[in-house]
Amino acid sequence: MTSVTNVSGTTASLTLNGSSVPLGDSTTPHTTTLDWLRDQGLTGSKEGCAEGECGACAIMVARPGADGTSATEWVAVNSCLVPVAALDGQDVVTVEGLGTIDRLHPVQQELADRGGSQCGYCTPGFVCSMAAEFYRGGRARAEPHHAAGQIGPNGFDLHAVSGNLCRCTGYRPIRDAAFALGLPEDSDPLAQRCHAEPTPARHTRLVGDGAEFVRPADLPEALRLLAERPDAVLLAGSTDVGVELNLRGSRPKVLIAVDRLPELRGLQFADDEVRIGAALTLTEIERKLDGRVPLLTQLFPQFASPLIRGGATLGGNLGTASPIGDATAALLALEASLVLSGSGGERVVPLSDYFTGYRKTLRRPDELIREIRIPLPLAGLTAFHKIAKRRFDDISGVAVAFALDVVDGTVARARIGLGGVAATPIRALRTESALEGMPWTRESVEAVASVLAAEGTPLSDHRASGPYRSAMLGQSLLKLHAQSGTTPQDVR
Ligand SMILES: Cc1cc2nc3c(=O)[nH]c(=O)nc-3n(C[C@H](O)[C@H](O)[C@H](O)COP(=O)(O)OP(=O)(O)OC[C@H]3O[C@@H](n4cnc5c(N)ncnc54)[C@H](O)[C@@H]3O)c2cc1C
Ligand code: FES
Ligand code: FES
Repeated sequence: MTSVTNVSGTTASLTLNGSSVPLGDSTTPHTTTLDWLRDQGLTGSKEGCAEGECGACAIMVARPGADGTSATEWVAVNSCLVPVAALDGQDVVTVEGLGTIDRLHPVQQELADRGGSQCGYCTPGFVCSMAAEFYRGGRARAEPHHAAGQIGPNGFDLHAVSGNLCRCTGYRPIRDAAFALGLPEDSDPLAQRCHAEPTPARHTRLVGDGAEFVRPADLPEALRLLAERPDAVLLAGSTDVGVELNLRGSRPKVLIAVDRLPELRGLQFADDEVRIGAALTLTEIERKLDGRVPLLTQLFPQFASPLIRGGATLGGNLGTASPIGDATAALLALEASLVLSGSGGERVVPLSDYFTGYRKTLRRPDELIREIRIPLPLAGLTAFHKIAKRRFDDISGVAVAFALDVVDGTVARARIGLGGVAATPIRALRTESALEGMPWTRESVEAVASVLAAEGTPLSDHRASGPYRSAMLGQSLLKLHAQSGTTPQDVR
């Protein structure tokens, strides 16, 4: 039996395509949004993979505007990964809400006119990803034809669909449709929604199937719950938890949603550090930083897809404690520290001390990550190299993050974070000491490359062999040097 009344006494519901729809008695804390939608008869959203890889399940959710151009923005996410309870009270639009047979949405019209759909299985997901980009506030001001054809003359960023796969049409007609889109009409209700305030998060408690989903009102309530229920699983963007639910059959007894806690959603530039809330999504961080932390600017486009980045958080990346977490490698090079909040207070822990073993950390069960702190000033020469089988939307074989200061041709300071070469993300400490004090020349870098190649204990698996991983480490330093030229600066 499911309790569908949330704590504020309101029936748990979504505003779905403009109408309020109760979650209903059969919804459990583990019911994914995709399954729930299809149970409502909205079968436009499809399941291709159930693990965030194909985008056939994409929907749009109204979220607080991240770059200051609008109060609210439409964010496309993978509905297969997000428990529907996490969307209680939120505005959700599916492909069914974007147009009618008599009056297609501009995105649908362009796809139809340019032959952007054949079997149509992927099309609803493409439509939702493209529509979120269609409504993006900053789109009209983008530089046309920037980054080798990635941005269209209409400011449309093709990366918006890099998490959507199509098996039969071929991507050119889809790109043509994207680049043909105009701007939304003023009377378009979804464009108007962007000027209105975002929907506040609801104080939700949903019980069913022997489990409980709770969205606490604030941090103290979250910490109290965590102290009472050490078996609870924290939920932010659900891009890892959702995969566990769908593919590994995990059924946590308690899910505590932290993604809308105000205490975890700040971003400040102080004199001596940047403070980033653990529950800001990667898309929000990218927009809010606006290039001010160049190493992270390089990381974001290489991290999964926009569909994933619209939900994924740094708290989740560090919470997963994966040895191949991309953000972790970058944050290690930036010498970040974590603010851990627990019922007994807060403590600040250097990220380099945080990992204690394979997927183990020194975070206690009653603690959560509230904030990530990056010390200032930043290093002058930074780069993030992700070695993966695909250029975008792939998990790293090896991730290497560099943060170097080169002064008068000599390496004054070196910090290097590595993912994929040990049981935990690590700092390349031997390479850092070998580099410091050395001239930043091809000869010395060649000598130190072999030190970097010997860092860690890389394993062979289906992503890459151990020797390949080691070779890529060494190559990465050579690549950094080649890219930095004679006047080292941030390189890509
Ligand atoms: C298709 C796909 C592609 C991906 N590509 C990449 C990639 O390129 N690089 C990469 O590094 N990762 C990738 N991931 C993994 C995932 O997206 C990231 O780890 C992401 O940062 C997780 O964030 P989240 O908010 O979704 O975490 P969630 O799934 O909500 O949570 C993940 C874990 O962290 C815990 N947690 C969440 N918030 C906190 C907090 N504040 N404090 C403590 N613990 C917390 C949760 O309890 C859970 O154990 C990919 C995942 C998918 C499905
Ligand atoms: S079903 Fe493939 S991303 Fe959701
Ligand atoms: S149109 Fe068939 S998968 Fe894209």
